[in-house]
Amino acid sequence: MPAESPAPGNCANWQNRTLFHGDNLWFLRAMNSGSVDLIAIDPPFNKGKDFHATPDSLAAGARFQDRWSWEKDVHQEWIDQLKDDYPRLMEAIESAQHAHSEGMGAYLCFMAVRLLEMRRILKPTGSIYLHCDPTASHYLKAAMDAIFGYRQFRNEIIWCYNVGGKSRHHWGRKHDVILYYTKSRKYHFDGKAAGIPRDTGKKSFGGRIGTDKDGRPYQDKIVRATGKIYRYYLDEPKIPEDWWTGINSLQSGSKERLGYPTQKPLALYERILKASSNEGDIVFDPFAGCATTLVAAERLDRQWVGMDLWDECKNVIVQRLRKEGLIQNTDHPDGYLFPKDIVFTDQIPERTDDKEEAAPFLRVKVRVKEPEGPRWSRRQMYDHLLEQYGCKCQGCDREFDDPRYLQLDHNTPRSDGGINHISNRVLLCGPCNQLKSNIYTLSGLRRENRRRGYMAPGKDTLFP
Ligand SMILES: C[S@@+](CC[C@H](N)C(=O)[O-])C[C@H]1O[C@@H](n2cnc3c(N)ncnc32)[C@H](O)[C@@H]1O
Ligand SMILES: [Zn+2]
Repeated sequence: MPAESPAPGNCANWQNRTLFHGDNLWFLRAMNSGSVDLIAIDPPFNKGKDFHATPDSLAAGARFQDRWSWEKDVHQEWIDQLKDDYPRLMEAIESAQHAHSEGMGAYLCFMAVRLLEMRRILKPTGSIYLHCDPTASHYLKAAMDAIFGYRQFRNEIIWCYNVGGKSRHHWGRKHDVILYYTKSRKYHFDGKAAGIPRDTGKKSFGGRIGTDKDGRPYQDKIVRATGKIYRYYLDEPKIPEDWWTGINSLQSGSKERLGYPTQKPLALYERILKASSNEGDIVFDPFAGCATTLVAAERLDRQWVGMDLWDECKNVIVQRLRKEGLIQNTDHPDGYLFPKDIVFTDQIPERTDDKEEAAPFLRVKVRVKEPEGPRWSRRQMYDHLLEQYGCKCQGCDREFDDPRYLQLDHNTPRSDGGINHISNRVLLCGPCNQLKSNIYTLSGLRRENRRRGYMAPGKDTLFP
């Protein structure tokens, strides 16, 4: 039975079976923190090309772009704040940019700002699977380490297949990479729920096959050096290794195939869902495509929420679920077959939690243009700030009895395009000025001060 809607729990601020239509960034930012159990994504891989659906297929007309450029896809505000708030992540992005290309850096920025929000949205016990391929998997792993922490890395799953074209100039490129991270060390994983039959070949065990006194078939593995025997029961599923064979990519004749470019097999996502979620849990895919993750969730009685830019996403998921016999249809006035309980919307939901943002840098800062007219002197700016904030360092909130302890500095460093205008000026004590240097903006400095325990004791009031 499909799970009840709306999604239970005090956190979700959307209904079960909601499909958001549009750029996922805005919806991600509008989802409550700690509200989903499992995120399984298959985003663009940075293949440097456009994908088109097969003509005359259910997905005909669908296309998405998988090319990235620094000028088009990256905002200076992101960079400023990534430097301040997530310097290690920024280093991972920059190293990709240097080692590979600007386009790779831009792609990682696009992913990073979204992955930061995804981490926030996961429950403390939640897991994320990020599907990619060798084009960017190594850079994405560095970014994931910076976002989730390398200790939260669980597996790099190699999904092997053998269909499709091959080159004569190198080994066949026939695997994808799925990076599996958890939000903490307390997470749900039931490998047996996604178990596969044991291979009884001599090669894999080299041991004797038999039946025990209760009639259970087993195979013994004997360690030659010590003579120790391990018994494996053949009626028990085996937890798959981190290299997955046996699930091929979809071929043109496959019944499952809808013609959507990059469609993944259901079996692959069902394996992930079975191991890393329970019935009734909330599964989320912000790059839904033709909804493989969501259909897998429906089949396994999980709740789901999805997002995609693609206009026909709704139509396709409705048709897929109907084909599977998982939903009942009613006629909808807009001409679509529309089941009552799938919400398809481009409305950004209202947050009902504390509205914490993982990536506040996405708030576009108002750029103050240097105004015309006579410029303020340093003295005038200094006196203005003293009058406004008192004889207090704006970096650590320490108060002084002598203004000579305070120095005039820039909020956004000059090297990052910060202007000399009063709107970009702050008063800092000597140690704060030194720590800030041209690395941090004021908010980054305050965060660093907090982290190092340098804030003045008492309430942190100036920029809460
Ligand atoms: C690789 S496909 C996903 C395929 C999917 N796993 C399936 O089996 O059908 C990536 C999807 O991400 C979507 N996408 C790309 N950028 C997006 C964005 N900023 N917001 C929402 N969706 C986006 C594309 O429209 C595309 O459908
Ligand atoms: Zn200070």
